[in-house]
Amino acid sequence: MKKQILIDTDPGIDDTLAILLALASPELELKGLSVVCGNCTVDQGVGNALGVLEVLHRQVQVARGADRPLVQPLLIAPETHGGTGIGYARLPVSTFAPIAKRAAEFIIEQVLAAPGQICLVCIGPLTNLAMAIRLEPSIVNAIPEVIIMGGALRHPGNTTPQAEFNVYCDPHAAHIVFHSGLPITLVPLDVTYQAILTQQDVDRLLCLPSPVSRLIADATRFYMEFHDQYQGINGCVINDPLALALAFAPGLVDLGSLYVDVDISGGVSLGNTYADFFHLTENEPNMSVALGVRPREFIELFLERMEGLCRSYPM
Ligand code: BDR
Ligand code: CA
Repeated sequence: MKKQILIDTDPGIDDTLAILLALASPELELKGLSVVCGNCTVDQGVGNALGVLEVLHRQVQVARGADRPLVQPLLIAPETHGGTGIGYARLPVSTFAPIAKRAAEFIIEQVLAAPGQICLVCIGPLTNLAMAIRLEPSIVNAIPEVIIMGGALRHPGNTTPQAEFNVYCDPHAAHIVFHSGLPITLVPLDVTYQAILTQQDVDRLLCLPSPVSRLIADATRFYMEFHDQYQGINGCVINDPLALALAFAPGLVDLGSLYVDVDISGGVSLGNTYADFFHLTENEPNMSVALGVRPREFIELFLERMEGLCRSYPM
């Protein structure tokens, strides 16, 4: 049986790659996309989500979510993802509209309609999920797994020296989710910064002329320029597809049980995610954390799935 998933996302270049990976993976049934502000505004994100689905002629419910974090002011990332959220790529305008339900209500509806069956993959700021938990706390016992791309434990932050983007955007939402009792698998920068897609990898996809390879090449060209200019990285870090891949290939990473918290005290370490590696707080672990990864195995899997999509959608 396929694993049913909902993706909560701020698309976003690597979010777009994660959505493509979900649609390319026969192990998964994508039940819907809920969109949150983050890499771009929520309206741009909804347009991008619908545009990616249009490229593949796929109909999946898209729910518009929060247009700002719970407490913090809106923060978007045009320097990382471009002015529209998808770098140099141009997506077709979709003939479909987002559903009327808001993201938090959509998550609640889907989860309660199939208790114990729907896995959440959260690859943006956690505002929508935090709102869903506050609206309907009983969802916590009905969700079997939440995979979250977020945080930086031993790795430096990518937004402040101490904080990762998704958590920094809405640290209060992350705090609610981390302490909710949900069964969380956290995929922090510690592992995602080893998952680097290179230009050589993209060239391999371009051997298969397709709107999919074109989209990936145009989006990642911008993303690679950002990584080169800001972080001296040759290639681009594809955080969100790694998190998504764990929904069907958990063996790509090594997991450890840890107590992880997020700083919401408001100083220079706002949004810092810290793990109690030495059990100093005596708090019980509240999540599973990806601490090691086989990066080339993951990139190879990603490329094979994208090649499959390119063959299914030739130019
Ligand atoms: C996360 O922030 C965004 O830039 C990416 O889409 C990813 O979800 C990495 O910190
Ligand atoms: Ca994202």
